[in-house]
Parts: sequence; structure tokens; C-alpha cells
Amino acid sequence: MTDAALSPPIEIALPDLAATRALGARLGRALRPGDAVLLTGDLGAGKSELARAALRAALGDPELAVPSPTFTLVQSYDAPGGFEILHVDLYRIEDPEEAVELDLEEAFADGACLVEWPDRLGARRPADSLSLTLTMGEGEADGPRRLSVVQAGPSWRDRLAEVFG
Ligand SMILES: Nc1ncnc2c1ncn2[C@@H]1O[C@H](COP(=O)(O)OP(=O)(O)OP(=O)(O)O)[C@@H](O)[C@H]1O
Ligand SMILES: [Mg+2]
Repeated sequence: MTDAALSPPIEIALPDLAATRALGARLGRALRPGDAVLLTGDLGAGKSELARAALRAALGDPELAVPSPTFTLVQSYDAPGGFEILHVDLYRIEDPEEAVELDLEEAFADGACLVEWPDRLGARRPADSLSLTLTMGEGEADGPRRLSVVQAGPSWRDRLAEVFG
């Protein structure tokens, strides 16, 4: 199965951090085993904030510590449904082959994963994924963000309204 581009793409305004967190929570509640959520956006765009809110909602723990995986590359969490959710940050990966060493493909199959900097995967990008892009205005570190749903694989089609509707 392959992703299909959404036409037109879904665009969501995230006027502040609370809006990003609310959307992240909706995403987290919709997560299922086998999901791959790809989070694209510049440094500081809000990928980790979105992932943090998703993980807290998925695990039902609003206080859950969710460190950015920038240095560890992968952080693993156990969801109540009996599956693992990986939070992955591939910023430091220079060659898609390095991602192989992280055994991500196995994890993509069994658990769910939230992947920052998925462009680093090259052709190893998971086929059935939800691909989100966060954008921010130049010099607006504390300003609004926009989120685009650029691709949604078949398994996501019936959940788009629940998360983004
Ligand atoms: N509307 C917003 N949505 C998300 N983050 C916001 C918003 N407004 C301000 N921020 C701030 O922007 C920062 C986003 O940081 P975050 O670590 O989530 O970025 P990132 O995309 O994961 O960056 P990196 O590529 O370095 O991992 C936080 O400090 C957050 O408080
Ligand atoms: Mg981050």
C-alpha cells in the first residue's frame, strides 16, 4: 500500500502552543499499533510539542515526561493498549542506512511511531503513514503555526475527521 496525497491538503491553524497541544492530544487518542506519523518542519516548528501531547494522551498521563529524542534518537513508551509507541528524531542521521541500525522497520510494523525529520529515511519511509508538516513564520518562534496533512495512507482515511475535523 502506498500513501495518497490529499487533494486539497488539510490545513489547520495552530494560533498558540495550546492549540498545538490540543491537536496532538487528538492525534494521540487516535493512535493504533502499526501507525507511523511523520512530522516534518523546521527546527523549533513544534514537532516535539505535538508528539509530547500525543504521547501524554495515548498513555493517559498528562504529566508524562517526554524528553526530546534529539540525542537518544529513539524513546520508547508503553501504551495501555499493549503496544509500544516510539518517539524518534532522525535529525542527526546522515544516511538512511544508519536508520537501519535503529531497527525501525520492525518497530514500524508492530508498534506506533512518531518520527521527527522523516526525510532522513529516504526510501525507507514507511508506506502507510500520516505525513504532517508544521510551518512557522520567519522570526516568529512564539507565533502561530500551521499544520498541513500532506499525505494520509489507507489506514488513516477513516480517522482524519476524528483528528483534524
Ligand atoms: N503554536 C505553537 N506550536 C508549537 N510550538 C510553539 C507554538 N508557539 C510557540 N511554540 C514554541 O516553539 C517551540 C517548539 O519546540 P519543539 O521542540 O516542539 O520544536 P521541534 O519542531 O521539535 O524542533 P526540532 O527540529 O529541534 O526537534 C517550543 O519552545 C514551543 O513553546
Ligand atoms: Mg523536536
